[in-house]
Amino acid sequence: MAVITGQSNEGRQKTAWDEITAVANRFIAADRYLLAVPMWNGGIPYRLKQYIDVIHQPGLLWGLDPQTGYFGLLKNKKAVLALTSGAYGPSMPSPAFGIDHHSSYLRDWLNQAGVTDIDEIRFQPTLLNPDPEGSFKAAVAAARSLAARA
Ligand SMILES: Cc1cc2nc3c(=O)[nH]c(=O)nc-3n(C[C@H](O)[C@H](O)[C@H](O)COP(=O)(O)O)c2cc1C
Repeated sequence: MAVITGQSNEGRQKTAWDEITAVANRFIAADRYLLAVPMWNGGIPYRLKQYIDVIHQPGLLWGLDPQTGYFGLLKNKKAVLALTSGAYGPSMPSPAFGIDHHSSYLRDWLNQAGVTDIDEIRFQPTLLNPDPEGSFKAAVAAARSLAARA
């Protein structure tokens, strides 16, 4: 918040901010993002959420225009989401088998950072699946086809 309000960081705050920028800069330097993410309780695992909370910083991944809102600072990036879940699947009745705050959250976050070219590979559901091997093979084929296109 000190950064977004234009204040300077000193001492321990500066050390923490320098660590954050080092982690964020590694993310910013990539051309492509491959995020393999299991659904956890409708959303994403907490360690990935913490990583996002560390790197999703003003002036690094996003800016805020008081008139028009958030804008992303990442340009010309591509992302692929490899999504798994045990019971939830796009073809399963929702909310009975869960609600997808998983892909929707990841897409919203990436969009806010400026990443809009996003492909998906889904292996869902893994548990309530009459043909898990077939679904897994289909997901691998989708991954190969995306890799060949890249
Ligand atoms: C803590 C936790 C929460 C989970 N929550 C859900 C969920 O809300 N919906 C779902 O369909 N599957 C859920 N699962 C199942 C995982 O999504 C599934 O096991 C995973 O996609 C397969 O990857 P894995 O081999 O890492 O377990 C959960 C698993 C764990 C460990």
